[in-house]
Amino acid sequence: MKQANWTDGPTDGVAAAVHDFYERHPYPGAVDQLGEDQAETPERQARKSEHHLFWPKQPFREDRSILIAGCGTIQAARHARRWPRARVVGIDVSEASLDKTRLLRERHGLDNLELKRLPVEQAEQLAEQFDQIICTGVLHHLPDPDAGLRALRSVLAPRGAMHLMVYAPYGRAGIYLIQQYGRLLGLGSTPSEIRDLMTALKNLPKGHPLWPLLQKSPDFQYDSGIADALLHPQDRPYSVPQFLAFAARNGLRFGRWMRQAPYLPYCGAPRGTPHQPRLADLAPSAQYAAMELFRGTMLRHSAILYRDDEADHDEAVTFEGEAWLGYVPIRMPGTLCVEERLPPGKAGVLINSHHTDTDIYLPITAPEKRVVEAIDGELSIAALVKGKIGTEPSRVLFQRLWHHDQVVFDTSHQP
Ligand SMILES: C[S@@+](CC[C@H](N)C(=O)[O-])C[C@H]1O[C@@H](n2cnc3c(N)ncnc32)[C@H](O)[C@@H]1O
Repeated sequence: MKQANWTDGPTDGVAAAVHDFYERHPYPGAVDQLGEDQAETPERQARKSEHHLFWPKQPFREDRSILIAGCGTIQAARHARRWPRARVVGIDVSEASLDKTRLLRERHGLDNLELKRLPVEQAEQLAEQFDQIICTGVLHHLPDPDAGLRALRSVLAPRGAMHLMVYAPYGRAGIYLIQQYGRLLGLGSTPSEIRDLMTALKNLPKGHPLWPLLQKSPDFQYDSGIADALLHPQDRPYSVPQFLAFAARNGLRFGRWMRQAPYLPYCGAPRGTPHQPRLADLAPSAQYAAMELFRGTMLRHSAILYRDDEADHDEAVTFEGEAWLGYVPIRMPGTLCVEERLPPGKAGVLINSHHTDTDIYLPITAPEKRVVEAIDGELSIAALVKGKIGTEPSRVLFQRLWHHDQVVFDTSHQP
């Protein structure tokens, strides 16, 4: 890695304010060791599922180079722990956040983790390209998010994949009301101002758009989370069309949403509306935009993007033709089968506990359940369904499992 010389911090107004903010409020809040959920190196199966979420067509490998851009206090350490054979590089402008990550590196012996104080806008100073770039919760805080995304795109390897997460506007309406309220009152983010704000929020009318988030979101349970959400000097959300345009104009091709069911009209409540045929006629990008408006509660958009200059790099999963019979399904994290209060004729209801929309679930019959229970990350669809269900019902089942974030596919064995 070429030596970067970004040491004095930014001089520009917004960047300086954001930098100062994260020196005072490292995010996420104080963590002195990787907790139980991060402590276990997940089994190979879980890593396979994560790999094929990003690259259905590329054979599983664990020795990637990963850049965590705007790593905060814990994200880079978590990845280094989860992927011990990968080389993980974390960059951030906040020395306080990097210090917390350094502690985790020492505590957990993470020799595969390098840390550098560097703004994402200067990522090219790393002088290398990465197989995977993860940038979550960062670019919407930059004075020029396009410059940040362009810089990251310039260090994405040709067959690489980027996980990008930025805020979404409509679900955060309550946050923007209180941000504006804070600006009117001239609120800063000193400890006493945060305490006063927490007290004030307890008096918020129950119908306020922020109310549901105050009850549910972990970010509202601690100081730096409150500061990050409500007292941030710079925060610019992206609607679905804005997100897709943001990626496209910076040389990136949309691959998929990290969890796609909420964006698809085939999953959950939208299936029951009279608009189903109209929704089905829309182009995928318009379907995603329609679902953001219909659901109204999306807080962020989190997607996988690829370089747009590689015509032959296609990670799309399709159910046309016969190739899908050779796909190897792998369960996604958070999937479970509920067996209580079942709809008539059903033997189970599949949910993914990472979905926040409670209307997203998939009832299955007893033969379908037997197929789902046999998914082991090794057997192909053809082997799983043999003697259990016919070809067309199998196609429908696996497409629905895919839409509902129950499975990813290893399609690397295809001709
Ligand atoms: C909300 S935190 C997200 C941290 C982490 N990505 C996560 O998801 O947990 C935003 C992080 O971006 C960093 N940041 C802000 N502007 C940056 C920039 N221009 N370059 C690099 N990091 C930046 C902040 O210091 C902070 O650690």
